[in-house]
Parts: sequence; structure tokens; C-alpha cells
Amino acid sequence: MPILEKILAIETSCDETAASVWIDGRGIASNVVFSQVKLHAVYGGVVPEIASRSHLEKIGFIVQSALDQAGCSLSDLTTIAVTTRPGLPGSLLVGLCYAKALAACAKKRIIGIDHIQAHIFSACIENAVTYPHLCLMASGGNTALYMVHGLDSYQVLASTLDDAAGEALDKVAKLIGLPYPGGPEIERLAAQVAYKDFFAYPRSMPGSLELSFSGLKTAVLYDVIKRGWYDVDCKLFLKADDETIKAQIASSLLVCIAETFTQKVRQALKQYPEARAVTFVGGVACNTYLKQVLERCAREREVFFFAPSPQYATDNAAMVAYIAQHKAHTDQFDTLALDIAF
Ligand code: KG4
Repeated sequence: MPILEKILAIETSCDETAASVWIDGRGIASNVVFSQVKLHAVYGGVVPEIASRSHLEKIGFIVQSALDQAGCSLSDLTTIAVTTRPGLPGSLLVGLCYAKALAACAKKRIIGIDHIQAHIFSACIENAVTYPHLCLMASGGNTALYMVHGLDSYQVLASTLDDAAGEALDKVAKLIGLPYPGGPEIERLAAQVAYKDFFAYPRSMPGSLELSFSGLKTAVLYDVIKRGWYDVDCKLFLKADDETIKAQIASSLLVCIAETFTQKVRQALKQYPEARAVTFVGGVACNTYLKQVLERCAREREVFFFAPSPQYATDNAAMVAYIAQHKAHTDQFDTLALDIAF
């Protein structure tokens, strides 16, 4: 008789403290996230020391909430899974030490999970995604294209040479005086001007699969300087009170990123015609406009399109639990010597 898995998954790789329970036959039974976004907002980005301290404060409560919501106790569990790579070392260590302590005390098996792998398959939690497929992952720390053949078989086709797409959104948002994280604010403003392209920022490397977003951020900076909207000496955006100008910049930025994404996906579908679907994952995949544009692009090429719902797109432990159940069913356990990698 195969063991019916009840898995507690823990995710603390960056600035979300998250826990989720997977129960065989039921799937994701709970998904609890504490976002530290308010703690980091005053600094305009994630401060690693603040992140690890906050994980330490919250992890006990978040794990208990995930168990309660799933109607489970620690003794009911078969396995504990935890993100071990990549991420902020201090943040990863909090999750790993907590998971190891639970596994050692309660005599549970342990599995270390790759955060990127968890994101790549996040669209599969709620959808029957066909293989092989292309995956575009866009988060605050990474942006890459993958060819995905199965849960243990995927390869990177191209990844950003510098900044991630989310980083470009966050940095441009900061430049024009919007709060952190920039993505949701950029989306809100761009919608006000119907996603029009006002400033035609440069598109990245057409014809190649490689991605790059740091030039885009610099192009926006040079453009606002040229228009007299930015004081270089004081490092001050002079139109911070002008909602229309901010919306035009936000919209032009989003349209530029959308065109870059569609160009890369079209190119990849041409190079890998065996792909039967496209998935769009990571925090940036919360963006409704980008999802619509990519869905249209996939439909044009007669392939399916899937994106996770927002709760599974930003950092969460349900996606960690999803990979963990596969690893548990295929006997891919670790020992308590498990360590982080970053
Ligand atoms: O995957 P994620 O939660 O974690 C990290 O990589 O840390 O992604 C966070 C990124 C941020 O850059 C944020 O600005 C972006 O996702 N993001 C969005 C939206 N919501 C979050 N970007 C565009 N549109 C959104 N609605």
C-alpha cells in the first residue's frame, strides 16, 4: 500500500514567510502567507537582515496556522518540505532550521525544494498543463524561459543577463516616486491610460532569446532627464504629483515589457515547435495585462496558455508543497544533513 502523504511545506527564501499543507486526495489543504512588504517599503527594496529577523518572529505562527487550516497536527504529517535554494542566505536558514527541528523532533522525513522549480510548476497546481511546454518565469529576482518536459525534466533556454523584469518594474516605480513593490502600482497607473505606448522605450535584443532589463530602467531614467522631469543633482523626480505623466511612464514601461515577453515567447515557440503550451509564472504573472497579451500570443500559435492565480504566482508555500508531493511519491527524500544553497 502506498503511503498517503500529508506534507507540511515551508517557504522563507526572500520576504514572504509561508507554509502550506498538501494532503493526498485533497491537494492543497492550506496556504498561509505573511508578506513583509510593509517592513521593506520604507527602504524601497528588501533588506536581508530585516527579512531574516521577521521570518524568525513569524514562522511558528504561520506554520501553526497552516496546520490548523488543514485540520492537521504535527503528528499527522508524513513529511516536511522546505525551500533550500536559491534565496537570501539568512532567510533560507530560518526556514531550513525550523523544518529540520520539526523533522528531528517529530521523526518526519524531510525534502529540500528548489524555489525556481516550485515557481516553474506553479501553474500546474490548478490546471492540467500539457507537456512539453514553455515556461516564462518573471519575478523580482529572476526572469527566464524554460523548456519543460516533466516535473524532474526542464532546462533553461535563456535567462536575464542582468536585472529581472520585476526588478525593472520596482526600480522604475521607485524612480518616479511610487511605493514598493512597484509592479501592482505600475499596473494600476497603466490601466488609467489604457496601456498605450507614449515614449517607445527601447525593446531588448530582438531575434535572440536572451533577456535583459537593466537597459530599460536606464532608458527610462535618461528619458525623464531629457524631458526635464528629473533633477540629476538632487536625484529627484520633479513630476511626482502629476498622475498623468506617471501613468504614461508606467504604461509605456509595461507595453515595452509585454512586447519583449511576446517576442521571446514567439521566438522560443519557433525554435521549439514541440511545445504544446505556454505558462507564465512568478510575481509579475499577477499582471492582468501581461497575461492577456501572452495568452493572445499563445493562441495565435495554437498552443494552450496557463498562469497561476495570484495566490500561487507570488512567493508561497503551496508551490513548494506541489513539488514536494511529487518528490515524496518518487522517493526523493533528503537527510537532516540538508543545507541551503544560494
Ligand atoms: O515572485 P515574487 O513574489 O518574489 C520575488 O521575486 O521576490 O515577485 C515579486 C515581483 C515584484 O517585483 C513585484 O513588483 C512584481 O512581482 N509584481 C507585479 C505585480 N504584482 C507583483 N508585477 C507586475 N504586475 C503586478 N500586478
